[in-house]
Amino acid sequence: MSIARLIVAGSFLIALSLPFTIDSSFATQDKPVELVSKNIQVFKGMPESQLLPVMHLMRTALGVRCDYCHVAENGKYWMDDKPAKQTARRMIQMVFEINKANFGGEPVVTCNSCHRGSTKPIGIPAIGQAAFENTTRAEPREPDSLPAVEAILSRYVEAIGGKRALERIQTRVTEASLLRPKLVNPSGKPLAIEIYQKAPNKLLTVVTSSDGSVTYQGYNGKIGWIKTPNLQREMTSAELAQVRQQADLYKDLNLKNLFSTLKVVAKQKVNERDAYFVEGVNSSGKTEKLFFDAEVGLLVRRVVLNKTILGLDPVQTDFLDYREVNGVKLPFTIQTSYLDHTHYNTTRKFSQIKHNVPVDDAKFEMPRK
Ligand code: HEC
Ligand code: HEC
Repeated sequence: MSIARLIVAGSFLIALSLPFTIDSSFATQDKPVELVSKNIQVFKGMPESQLLPVMHLMRTALGVRCDYCHVAENGKYWMDDKPAKQTARRMIQMVFEINKANFGGEPVVTCNSCHRGSTKPIGIPAIGQAAFENTTRAEPREPDSLPAVEAILSRYVEAIGGKRALERIQTRVTEASLLRPKLVNPSGKPLAIEIYQKAPNKLLTVVTSSDGSVTYQGYNGKIGWIKTPNLQREMTSAELAQVRQQADLYKDLNLKNLFSTLKVVAKQKVNERDAYFVEGVNSSGKTEKLFFDAEVGLLVRRVVLNKTILGLDPVQTDFLDYREVNGVKLPFTIQTSYLDHTHYNTTRKFSQIKHNVPVDDAKFEMPRK
């Protein structure tokens, strides 16, 4: 099984062009992992696309690198030479059993439930932990009074400029630079991105890498396509589902439509500011967490939780540096963070956003081969 293959499995393309939705894993053919890896004993039946996300869930839960369990030199990940890998297999089985016996087989208990970033879970409470002055019963705590979802969403629309200003936008042309981690972009030079959007739902993203090679990702309102220096193809249905959502120029007006359920959970700090935490299930069945600044109403963070057999794999997007363009506020910096921070994390900085410049419909069509 080639790690490199998984890393380039198309996921990155989608990830970089979609300010709003990111999926950590797309394989065009998602085979059971035992068909593509040499030495799978406990993960039989797991889709191949989950292998790396699951490895990162274990790695981060234990606070270690891959080589804690693996002979990682020259990619000899199938070898069983390290005792920690064997222990991990027993732990994986234990976790499966706990969840089967207690949580209907859902991955509720995870490696992180016990490990929390350490190889040695702490079983004994520290003396002084939860020590109180006396045994008096506490006053019943007033729950935070939270606004309704509708209020938070309409405040968000106001915060970004209001319905009228948003609806005046027919096209948007964006120039940005995209910086990826050193490991996947050793030159440290940013990639150049151009994004063309046209109402109601056409989208084209053009990425030029530091070596000059160009990648296109287009959607004409019906057909989605990808063109790289080596290949051209239509998008898979999973890719299409994402690009469709992304291409809607007015999606912010109807965020609620993107979710089957949406509820306000709590008030919470994001980057040291109070935010309302709203949680919902999106049209792909994934749980998402949205955080709206409690004072100004802007969307500051979005977390998408991808399901794996060892629990939920988070992808976090932070929306920073909002600036006004033709009466509409847009984030000029977007940071996307993954557990796999050495391959996927990206920072996009927008250098120019223009509205209502003419954009030809032909731009969004799949080129003839
Ligand atoms: C806590 C231990 C642990 C860590 C950390 C870990 N792995 Fe694994 N890895 C395993 C176990 C256990 C298996 C075998 C699973 C099975 O038998 O079904 C495995 C299997 C694999 C395989 C399949 C090898 C084959 O051909 O059979 C790959 C590839 C892999 N890991 C990559 C990684 C990478 C990359 C990292 C770091 C991001 C990593 N692993 C971190 C425990 C770990
Ligand atoms: C119910 C709690 C619990 C869960 C869940 C759990 N572990 Fe553990 N794990 C432990 C305890 C406790 C130890 C330490 C045992 C000891 O101290 O000898 C341990 C030890 C380990 C070790 C050996 C660490 C070392 O010292 O080298 C590995 C590797 C490990 N766990 C991997 C995992 C993985 C991977 C998962 C998720 C699939 C997991 N554990 C889930 C409780 C848990």
